[in-house]
Amino acid sequence: MRDLLPPTVAVAVAGPQDWSGVLLPAERACLGDQAAASRRRDFTAGRVCARRALAGLGLPATPVTSAPDRSPVWPAGVVGTITHTRDYCAAAAAHAAEFRSVGMDAEQHRDLTPRVRRAICLPEEEAELGRLPAGVSWPTVVFSIKETVYKVWHPLVGTWLDFHDARVTLDPDAGTFTTQIAPRRVDAAPVPDPPASIAGRFAVDAALVRSAAALPPR
Ligand SMILES: CC(C)(COP(=O)(O)OP(=O)(O)OC[C@H]1O[C@@H](n2cnc3c(N)ncnc32)[C@H](O)[C@@H]1OP(=O)(O)O)[C@@H](O)C(=O)NCCC(=O)NCCS
Repeated sequence: MRDLLPPTVAVAVAGPQDWSGVLLPAERACLGDQAAASRRRDFTAGRVCARRALAGLGLPATPVTSAPDRSPVWPAGVVGTITHTRDYCAAAAAHAAEFRSVGMDAEQHRDLTPRVRRAICLPEEEAELGRLPAGVSWPTVVFSIKETVYKVWHPLVGTWLDFHDARVTLDPDAGTFTTQIAPRRVDAAPVPDPPASIAGRFAVDAALVRSAAALPPR
């Protein structure tokens, strides 16, 4: 994810040891005793990466707990994000004075069924994707971007977004995207200056689709 975020955002990508790393007591309490092995593995890699990202900002190894809505709870003055999928996990953190919010997402690069595609993409997005070069599952790219957008939006605004509440425009050559948020969601936001648009970068290889965005100050 280092390639997708500005240089002052600290990024950590999990190595092989991190999936069985050590959780701090407060983090272990969030995971609970009943978590399945796969969930324990993902959560652990995310927390190890989160603390490494904090260290990259020059901050101590504070626990990164989970809110009841599952969003990660970063230390005061920090914004950040976590993603995990199969053998890939990453976390990013930034000083809240520099960025209002940060989001990122990684997905397996595979085709989506027509039903899932329609649930994710607006009709006008599907029409645009049909004109892009073959060999990439573009609906998966849009899916990843919308998950990233939600991870930027939700910690800042606190409200839900449907997949059809975001209109994604891709620049496949530049590896960038812009997203317009539905005006009804922006107008109903219970915070001042909710973002009406969120821009970021994406990357695709044979295995993974990745996307990330860091929202600059107002
Ligand atoms: C929250 C959500 C985006 C997570 O994405 P995912 O692809 O399932 O999973 P990822 O591995 O990429 O991310 C999981 C991490 O996201 C973080 N996360 C969970 N809820 C979050 C929220 N509300 N806000 C920000 N981050 C959140 C957590 O750190 C979680 O990992 P953890 O439980 O180990 O701490 C997804 O489950 C979801 O609810 N999506 C529906 C909403 C949406 O995307 N709408 C589209 C709007 S355009």
